[in-house]
Amino acid sequence: MIKMLAENLIGIEARLQINWVWLNASLQFASWALFSILLAEVLRDSYHALCHQVNWLAKWHNKHHMAYRRDLSIVSLKVYQESQLYHDILESSLLLVVLVVIALIVQQMGLWLGVAYGSTFLYGASVRYFQGKIDTDYNHLPGPLETIPSLWWVNRTYHWRHHFDDVNAYYSGVFPLVDKILGTGLSLKGKTIALTGASGALGQALAAELVKNNAKVVALTTNPEKLVEQVRVKVVPWQLGNEAELRNSLEKVDILIINHGINVYASRTSEAINSSYEVNTFSALRLIDIFLTTVTGPQAKATKEIWVNTSEAEVSPALSPLYELSKRALGDIVTLKRLDGDCVIRKLILGPFKSQLNPYGVMSAQQVARAILFLARRDFRNIIVAINPLTYLLFPLKETSTSLYYRVFSRTAKSEQYLRKQ
Ligand SMILES: NC(=O)c1ccc[n+]([C@@H]2O[C@H](COP(=O)([O-])OP(=O)(O)OC[C@H]3O[C@@H](n4cnc5c(N)ncnc54)[C@H](OP(=O)(O)O)[C@@H]3O)[C@@H](O)[C@H]2O)c1
Repeated sequence: MIKMLAENLIGIEARLQINWVWLNASLQFASWALFSILLAEVLRDSYHALCHQVNWLAKWHNKHHMAYRRDLSIVSLKVYQESQLYHDILESSLLLVVLVVIALIVQQMGLWLGVAYGSTFLYGASVRYFQGKIDTDYNHLPGPLETIPSLWWVNRTYHWRHHFDDVNAYYSGVFPLVDKILGTGLSLKGKTIALTGASGALGQALAAELVKNNAKVVALTTNPEKLVEQVRVKVVPWQLGNEAELRNSLEKVDILIINHGINVYASRTSEAINSSYEVNTFSALRLIDIFLTTVTGPQAKATKEIWVNTSEAEVSPALSPLYELSKRALGDIVTLKRLDGDCVIRKLILGPFKSQLNPYGVMSAQQVARAILFLARRDFRNIIVAINPLTYLLFPLKETSTSLYYRVFSRTAKSEQYLRKQ
C-alpha cells in the first residue's frame, strides 16, 4: 500500500516536472517571438530613417513617396508598381536577411516568428508588383483623415504626416518607438505656432526655443509694447474677453500654446476668485473652442494641436488656493475636451520656475522651455517638467482615472444631438 502511494507520488512529481519544463519552454518561446516582432519593426523603422539620411538609399525610397497624392490616392499603377519594386521589395528582402542572420546566430526558435512576420512583407510586395495589384496597407488608404494621430501605435493620420508634413520625421510604421528615441514624433519645422503669455518668462523662452526649431512664432500678448524688439516673431495683440477676434489669426496657426496665467497668491476676495478663473480657466476655454472651429479640412487633424499650460498645481499644492483651483478646473476641462478627439491636445505640467508669477521658482524658464520641446518632439501628450518626483506618479494616475470617469459619465456633442432627435 505504502509502496503504491510512493510510486503514485513519484509519478505526480515527474508529471509536474514535465509540465513545468513545458511551461518554461513555452514562455521562453513566446517572449522571443514577441521580441522578434518588435525587433522586425524597429529594424524596419531604423532602415526607413536611414533612407532619409543616405542619398543612395533615398533614391530608391523616394519611389514610395512619389506614388501617393496628398489624399493618399495612387498617382498611377506604373508608379505604384515601381515603388513596390524599388522600395517595398528591397526593404523587405533586406529585413528578411537581417532577421534570418539574427535567428541563426542567437538560435532561439521564437525568433523565427519574426522571420515569418518579415516574409509576409516580402510576399505582399511581390504580389503587388508581379500581379500589378493596388492593395495598400492600412496606413496608406486614401481619403480624409478622420482621427487624430494615435499615441501607442501608428495610424493613417500619424503616417500621413511623414508623407506631407515633414519627410524627415514620423518614421515609425507600427509602434512609434523609433520616433520616440530619435525625437521625430512631432516636427516643429515650418509650423506656425502661436502662444499666449508671450511677454512672460516662459512665453519668451518658449518663443526663442521654437524659433531655434525652425518654427514660425506668433506671439499673442496683452502687452505688445514689451515685445517690440522681438526678431523672427510676429506679435499679435489680444485682450481678455476678446478671444473671438483672434479667430482669423488662429486659422493659419498649426499649434496654439495657451500659456497665459496669473497667481493671486493668498488673496481670497471675490475679485481674486473671478480674475483667477477668468484668466486661468475661462479665457483658456474660449481660446480652445475658437481654435477648434479652425480644425477643418481633410488633413487638419494631422497638424493642428493645442498645448495647455495647466501646471503641476493639477496634482500638487502650489501654496496658492485660487491658483490651484483655477488651474485644476482648467486641467479637468482639458481632460474632458480631449475625449472628443478634435485635435491633439497636450498638457504642460510644470513645476516651479522663476518668473514674475513665481519669483521663488527653482528651475529657469529656459530649462523648462527646452525640456517641453524635447518631450513634445517625442510626442508626449502629458509633458511633465517638474522637480517633485511625486508629480510623475500622481499626475498619470489622476489623468487616467479622471479621463475614464468622464468617458463613462459624459457624452459627445454628436450623441447629444442624436438623443435630442429621438
Ligand atoms: N512660474 C511657475 O513656477 C509656473 C509653474 C507652473 C506653471 N506655470 C504657468 O506657466 C505660465 C507662464 O507663466 P510664467 O511663470 O512665465 O509667468 P509670467 O512671466 O508672469 O507670464 C505670465 C503671462 O501671462 C500673461 N497674462 C497675465 N495676466 C494676463 C491677463 N489678465 N490676461 C491675459 N494674459 C495675461 C502675460 O503675458 P502677455 O503680457 O504677453 O499677455 C504674462 O506675462 C502660466 O500659465 C503659469 O500659470 C508657471
